[in-house]
Parts: sequence; structure tokens; C-alpha cells
Amino acid sequence: MEKALNYNYRVVKQFSIATIVWGVVGMTVGLLIAAQLAWPMMNFDIPWLTFGRLRPLHTNAVIFAFGGSALMATSYYVVQRTCQVRLFSDGLAAFTFWGWQLVIVLAAITLPMGYTRGKEYAELEWPITILLAVVWVAYAVVFFGTLAKRKVSHIYVANWFYGAFIIAVALLHVVNGMSMPATLTKSYSAYSGVQDAMIQWWYGHNAVGFFLTAGFLGMMYYFIPKQAERPVYSYRLSIVHFWALIFTYMWAGPHHLHYTALPDWTQSLGMVFSLILLAPSWGGMINGMMTLSGAWHKLRTDPILKFLVVSLSFYGMATFEGPMMAIKTVNALSHYTDWGIAHVHSGALGWVGFITMGSMYYLIPRLVGKQQMWSVKMIELHFWMATIGIVLYIAAMWIAGVMQGLMWRAVNADGTLTYAFVEVVKATYPYYVIRFFGGLLYLSGMLLMAFNVFKTMRYSFPVDTRIATPRVHPAAPQLAPAAKIGAEAAQIT
Ligand code: HEM
Ligand code: HEM
Repeated sequence: MEKALNYNYRVVKQFSIATIVWGVVGMTVGLLIAAQLAWPMMNFDIPWLTFGRLRPLHTNAVIFAFGGSALMATSYYVVQRTCQVRLFSDGLAAFTFWGWQLVIVLAAITLPMGYTRGKEYAELEWPITILLAVVWVAYAVVFFGTLAKRKVSHIYVANWFYGAFIIAVALLHVVNGMSMPATLTKSYSAYSGVQDAMIQWWYGHNAVGFFLTAGFLGMMYYFIPKQAERPVYSYRLSIVHFWALIFTYMWAGPHHLHYTALPDWTQSLGMVFSLILLAPSWGGMINGMMTLSGAWHKLRTDPILKFLVVSLSFYGMATFEGPMMAIKTVNALSHYTDWGIAHVHSGALGWVGFITMGSMYYLIPRLVGKQQMWSVKMIELHFWMATIGIVLYIAAMWIAGVMQGLMWRAVNADGTLTYAFVEVVKATYPYYVIRFFGGLLYLSGMLLMAFNVFKTMRYSFPVDTRIATPRVHPAAPQLAPAAKIGAEAAQIT
């Protein structure tokens, strides 16, 4: 108990609440832009509320505000628990929380006003980009500073993934952020032409690889073993998984630029590395899944575990689909269609969303000294609403995407196009409506979660000392054989 009180849970709690709040906000904007695609009048003829301005607000809110807060909350929790020490600096940690919230608020103001660098997922204008870099450096200092003063010699694998995510995102952000300011609200990229596109998608794909994947794999390696009460299936595999994944991701970016001015060999290189990427991705997925060996029966009664395990299924699905879409001939069909949107959201809603929700349901009661969430039934209901929501969303977008691709390439015997653009838009309409309802279900589940969290924080229930007292972590020998490390890792606190 005493030891648990020595951890800095305040910042973890703040980031966890921010995760829920920004999740609701980001998904509400997602639902609004989904409605705009189905019913254009939802743009209301107000510039600030048009699709073009709200789309980047949605992506920034869900990736950086919702996902980023979840990553910071869990990384701060995991690094303290597995290293058996308090965060390196409470002051700096508080700075990262408030700094990050400031970046988000500035994004929410400037994006609807139309200020943008025009680079996807890196839209924020230069003053905010610099602020973000400063906050990120502080985050790195807190995280690595805590690792440096750890009380156990072993660095648990989740921290490796969080560490790689922090370093890679810093590198990507700084390189892709290079620009020449013209005014306070306008800057121009330091790169031009195809080099600019290449750097943008080196950034973009690694934002997927390190922000939306590596960090969340850190969550997987901590919260799945904890919730399943089983050791990681193979600690050796987790190390191979780590090195293979971070090496391969860096090269796959050109698959976003197939059939462009980018040299052909570069496109082929991106395609080949994307295909290779299937192996480490599935290695990691299997490692997470197999962690449930001997605990599968828990899935029947534990909705938190359902979230965590189904997230892995979606991860497996998205990382199979991605390499397929990276094959040039497949990309010729899928690019510029809603197939891409289906792929994005099977990864985003299924993998990123579910692993976050599962981890938050595990974490939040512990942070507020409660035995469990206020209503477990509500978690179960959330799980089913969200799952049905995703299926509606991605199935509609898959069908729409393949249909669009086929209609756009259809030609008559005389070489003219079979369909006018507007015919394709018209044919897509029912699928946009289905996607809207899928999104509505997913968002409603998130609102249920927010209510459940609120109630958990409010109701009074005795602190469960079993949870608050950390188990003793036997210091793992540094060069122990993998099997032995596996046994040690089973003792993660
Ligand atoms: C209620 C839930 C959500 C709804 C209704 C929704 C809806 C949408 C819509 C309508 C678009 C624009 C599609 C287009 O341009 O044709 C979009 C784009 C996007 N969304 Fe969501 N979204 C949701 C949740 C999320 C979450 C949780 C994430 C990430 C963690 C996410 C990440 C993205 C990304 C990255 C894009 C841009 C995709 C691209 O450029 O290819 N979304 N979303
Ligand atoms: C082995 C893993 C993966 C590979 C090889 C891969 C590959 C691809 C490919 C080929 C595209 C389409 C590019 C285009 O035509 O423009 C794409 C788009 C995208 N993928 Fe993946 N993907 C993988 C995993 C994931 C995961 C797990 C997520 C989400 C968590 C994700 C998020 C995205 C996003 C956001 C885009 C849209 C980018 C944009 O155009 O704005 N991907 N991916």
C-alpha cells in the first residue's frame, strides 16, 4: 500500500480522464463528418463546420488527443509499476499533461479556422508544432529518466515499445515539421515536390507504425497479461517482435505513393517491405493471443478481456489487409476509394480503440482506489455496441470501396468511361448512411463508458488492498535465457 502511494498516479489519472473526454469529442466530430458525407446540408453553410476543416480536426482529435492521452497515461503507469520507482519528475510530468492539453485546444481552435500546413496528420501550424516538440522532449525526459532510476535491472518489454514510440515520433515530427514560416499562421514546407511527398508519407506511415501501433503494443504487453493473469506467451518472441517491427516499418512509407512521380523502384521497395511487415505484425498478435492459453474461459465472463482480445483480432485483420493493399495492382483498385477508410477504421476503431478501452477499464478503478468499474454489465454492453458498430462501419466501407474502384475503372468498348463520377457518388450513398449508424453505435458505446467512469469515480467502495499493494518484483538477471526471462516477466507488477 505504502509503495503504491509512492507512485505518481495523479498524472496517470489526469491523462486517463483526458482519454475519455477526447475520445467522446473526437468521435463526435467523426460522426458529424460521416453525416456530412451522407447529408451535405450538415455542413450548415458555415465555413468553420465544413467537412474540409473538420476532417483534420477529427483525425487530430482521435489520434493525438484520444490515442496520445491513452499512451501517456498507460506509459507513465507501466513504467512506474515495472521499474518500481516513482516518475523521474512530477513537475515535468505535470508540464507534459498541461502542455499536451494546450496543443489539443490550439488544434481545436486553429483547424476549424482553416490554418493548416496541408500535411496529413501533421497539419498544425509552426508555433503549435514547436510547442508539441517541446512537450514531447519533456515526455521523453520523464519516461527515460524513470527507466534510468529503476530499481529492477530488467526492462520489461512493454517499456521497449513505449520507448521506441517516443523516440521515433520525435524523429518523425522534427524531420517532417521542417518549414519556413511566412507569418504566424502560415509556413511552407522545407522540402519540395516529390521529396516533400516522400518525407510526408515516411512520416505518415510511421505515425501509423509508431504512434498507432508500437505504443499500443506496449499496452498489449502489459494489460493483456495482467487482465488474463497469465505470463506473456513467449518473452523471446516479444524481443524478436520488437526488433523486426521497428526495423521494417521505417521502409514501408512509399506504399502511400504508388503510381506517382516517386521513382518506381522506391514504390516497389515500399511494397516489398509492407509485405515483410506482415510477419512481425502477426508474430506480435499471436504472442498476445497465446498469452490467453489456459485462460480462454475467462472470455465468457470478463468483458475487459473481450475488449483486449478482440482488439488483437482487428490488429491481425488490419495488418493482413495493409500488406495486401500495398501490392501495386491491388492499390490500383483500392487507392482513392473508401476501402482505405475501411482499413483505417478497422485499425483505428478495432485495434487502437479496443486496446485503449480495455486498458482504461483495467486502469481507472485502480487509480481511484476501487475494486472494479461501477457497472460490469455496462462494459459488456459497450463491448457489443462497439463491435456491431465497427462491423457496420467497415463492411459498408469495404463494399463501397470495391464498388467505387470497379466503377471508376470500367470502360466501354470504345474506350470511354462507363460511369460518370456523380453516378459513383450516388451509388455510395446507402453505404455512407450505414457507416453513419455504425459510427453512432460506436460513439454511443463511448458515451456509456464515460458515464461508467464518472460513476466509478463517484461511488464509495472500500479500497481493495490486494490491488493497491504491489507484488514484489524479483529482479530479473540481465542475461538470463529467454525462457527464464519469460518466467520473470510473469511477475510484472
Ligand atoms: C465514432 C467513430 C468514428 C467515426 C464515425 C469516424 C468517421 C470518419 C470519417 C467520416 C472520416 C472521413 C472519411 C473520408 O474522408 O471519406 C474519417 C477519417 C479518419 N478517421 Fe475516423 N471515425 C471514427 C473514429 C476514429 C478513431 C477512433 C480513429 C483513430 C484512432 C479514427 C481515425 C481516422 C483517420 C486516421 C482518418 C483519415 C483516413 C484517411 O485519410 O485515409 N477515426 N473518420
Ligand atoms: C502491416 C501493417 C500495415 C500495412 C502494410 C498497411 C498498409 C497500408 C496501405 C497500403 C494503405 C493505403 C495507402 C494508399 O493507398 O494511399 C494504408 C493506409 C492507411 N493505414 Fe495501413 N497498413 C498497416 C496497418 C495499419 C494499422 C494497424 C493501422 C491503424 C492503426 C493503419 C492505418 C492506416 C491509415 C490511417 C491509412 C490511411 C493513410 C492516409 O491515406 O491518410 N494501418 N495502410
